[in-house]
Amino acid sequence: MTYASEAPTRKLLHGAVLPVLGLGTWPLRGEESVRQVRTAIQAGYRLIDTAENYGNEDSVGRGIRESGIDRAEIFLTTKFNRKWHSVSGVREAYTASLDRLGLDYIDLLLVHWPNPDQDRYVDAVRGLEELRQEGRLRAIGTSNFKPAHLQRVLDETGIVPDVNQIQLSPYSTRADSRAFHDEHGIATESWSPIGASSTELRQDPVITAIAEHYDMTPTQIVLRWHTQLGLITIPKSADPGRIAENISIFGFELSKDDLAAISALDRGESEVTDSDVFGH
Ligand SMILES: NC(=O)c1ccc[n+]([C@@H]2O[C@H](COP(=O)([O-])OP(=O)(O)OC[C@H]3O[C@@H](n4cnc5c(N)ncnc54)[C@H](OP(=O)(O)O)[C@@H]3O)[C@@H](O)[C@H]2O)c1
Repeated sequence: MTYASEAPTRKLLHGAVLPVLGLGTWPLRGEESVRQVRTAIQAGYRLIDTAENYGNEDSVGRGIRESGIDRAEIFLTTKFNRKWHSVSGVREAYTASLDRLGLDYIDLLLVHWPNPDQDRYVDAVRGLEELRQEGRLRAIGTSNFKPAHLQRVLDETGIVPDVNQIQLSPYSTRADSRAFHDEHGIATESWSPIGASSTELRQDPVITAIAEHYDMTPTQIVLRWHTQLGLITIPKSADPGRIAENISIFGFELSKDDLAAISALDRGESEVTDSDVFGH
């Protein structure tokens, strides 16, 4: 499938195609969320990221339905919470998400957090694969899985997720995770790609100097870094101007040296939420 997207697309392991840049929707809800999704789709976004836990699947679904763009043009991702970690539970989570979204299908469904304390994420992936084989999902994935969690899924089931969505930015470049994903053909998707509500990254002197050189904004430089590294990314903005700004990054290329200078800002795992401890 080709998308009339402002962003280029890439093919996932099981054959689905999605744009490499999409819209993050947390923590918007209600009318603000409907407006955000409608605005983004009209600005050329075709990848939308939501989750059961955000409490906004209803408004994200409404935004898609009211956008004036065919459902088939949109690639929708949602995620389910820990209580659904079983083969039958994932099926229930899928149906409940569809009801809230008011849509006929979901493109990509993710295990939101591994929650190793309850030790059921392997069955959650089995549940996803069943739905994919029945044609109910175009792609399946995980979120916040460490290489060790993914390795266990591979060892016990042989199932390889299409995507692992993880916290990733120039301050947390996640080299180990990216290498593991690349080795197995799993696409890496970056959450909090531009540093979330903190302005520190967007004001980092290395980023602002590069931004000045290319006559782009610091946020655009960071987003271009993600996409040139081969990552999928889902920046969130509620502002129409910034929504447009964030997808207008495909008309220039960062040099190898600039990519390296941005990657050198890495602070290791120190700012990454530990998914062996946190989850919902
Ligand atoms: N899988 C997971 O566990 C997980 C966890 C967290 C998030 N996510 C997903 O990832 C998405 C993105 O992550 P995030 O929302 O945490 O952080 P983010 O996208 O890195 O940053 C969002 C922040 O940046 C601001 N911003 C956006 N564009 C800007 C621009 N051009 N210039 C200046 N500021 C700008 C936004 O403010 P304005 O809205 O005012 O523009 C907002 O405060 C979420 O929305 C969610 O869909 C997934």
